[in-house]
Amino acid sequence: MAPSSPAQFAAVIVAAGSGSRAGLGVPKQFAPWRGTTVLRHAADALRSAGAGTLAIAYPADFASAAEEAVAGLDDAIMVAGGATRQESVLRALEALVEGDHEVVLIHDAARPDCPPEVIDRLLAALKSHAGSIPVLPVVDSLAVAREGLMADSVEREKLSRVQTPQAFLFADILAAHRRWEGEPSAGDDAQVAQAAGLQVALVEGDERLRKLTTARDFAETRYPRTGTGFDVHRLADGEELWLCGVLVPHSRGLAGHSDADVALHAVVDAVLGACGAGDIGAHFPPSDDQWRGAASSAFVAHAVDLARKAGFAIGNVDLTIICEAPKIGPHREAMRARLAELLEVGLEAVNVKATTTERLGFTGRGEGIAAQAVATLIPVERD
Ligand code: CTP
Ligand code: MG
Repeated sequence: MAPSSPAQFAAVIVAAGSGSRAGLGVPKQFAPWRGTTVLRHAADALRSAGAGTLAIAYPADFASAAEEAVAGLDDAIMVAGGATRQESVLRALEALVEGDHEVVLIHDAARPDCPPEVIDRLLAALKSHAGSIPVLPVVDSLAVAREGLMADSVEREKLSRVQTPQAFLFADILAAHRRWEGEPSAGDDAQVAQAAGLQVALVEGDERLRKLTTARDFAETRYPRTGTGFDVHRLADGEELWLCGVLVPHSRGLAGHSDADVALHAVVDAVLGACGAGDIGAHFPPSDDQWRGAASSAFVAHAVDLARKAGFAIGNVDLTIICEAPKIGPHREAMRARLAELLEVGLEAVNVKATTTERLGFTGRGEGIAAQAVATLIPVERD
């Protein structure tokens, strides 16, 4: 039966492989990718294209990485995967049986992008076929190799490169997987469907559906990143003066929602900036009472943790504090040491500078203190 609405389909995401060809140290689907993980990109892309219930097969020994990757994703059923992709798919399909779904899309977690127009084409083809799959033409000519020699040629026009997601009528693909007795290494669900006699339509695929497979595919995650931060707080009577995690004796202190440590705030924004993770206000809204009077060291810890989860370590941080008074010089080394401790890096990776603005502007008049920072993050080697 045809799907009742293009927005109504369940999806299986197979994320139970070990990613041995990528060799990243973690299965590639849990590797950092453009601000989150590969798996989360795949799940979010299916969701934005209209997927309802998701069944996600994960490797049994990476249960917590899988949970973390899908945190906050509604209506996701987590299933321990099998030794082969086909077994992982079958287990996920079985977990969807009770949902009474008409249509299911089966997708590799290792394909982070999924253009919605491909899903439109798949669902349209499913109106007249039990299955539909995205394919692309082969551009190179082909040779059959035997012991290092060319044994035969193949007409490239007869062949297509097959991608996922692949769309099926749920009952049909479930029955096909339950009956599958072929090679355990069934490359995809179209092979299982075809072996069961189902008609599988070919629709146009998309290069953006490429599967991340080798370490080279993850090269972009290995470039350094730089971010900048800038902050200002007002000087007021009766406040403590916290600068760079150090309590500085002074006649006045900085006013603000937290401890108003302007220097640490600039550092946090620089690290968040390098992660592509917005700014301090988005992570710790001033409207949220839990940050009233909070030590800004907690904000630094959060930013460092975000960077680590994105696959980066702090390379170095350079900070400039801009004020007429107090004199920063006598506290500079204490500030540097505290900042290095908070960032969990060596002293040489941290620099603290200070300048006045020649009595000009709000800092010159002593109305407030400004700080600016630059942070460079370096990709953590995974092998
Ligand atoms: N997969 C799975 N269960 C398995 C094997 C693979 O769920 N037992 C999933 C992978 O997580 C991946 C998709 O099937 O999302 C496509 O497989 P592939 O690209 O081959 O991934 P891996 O098997 O993890 O990688 P490799 O072959 O390099 O080890
Ligand atoms: Mg594999």
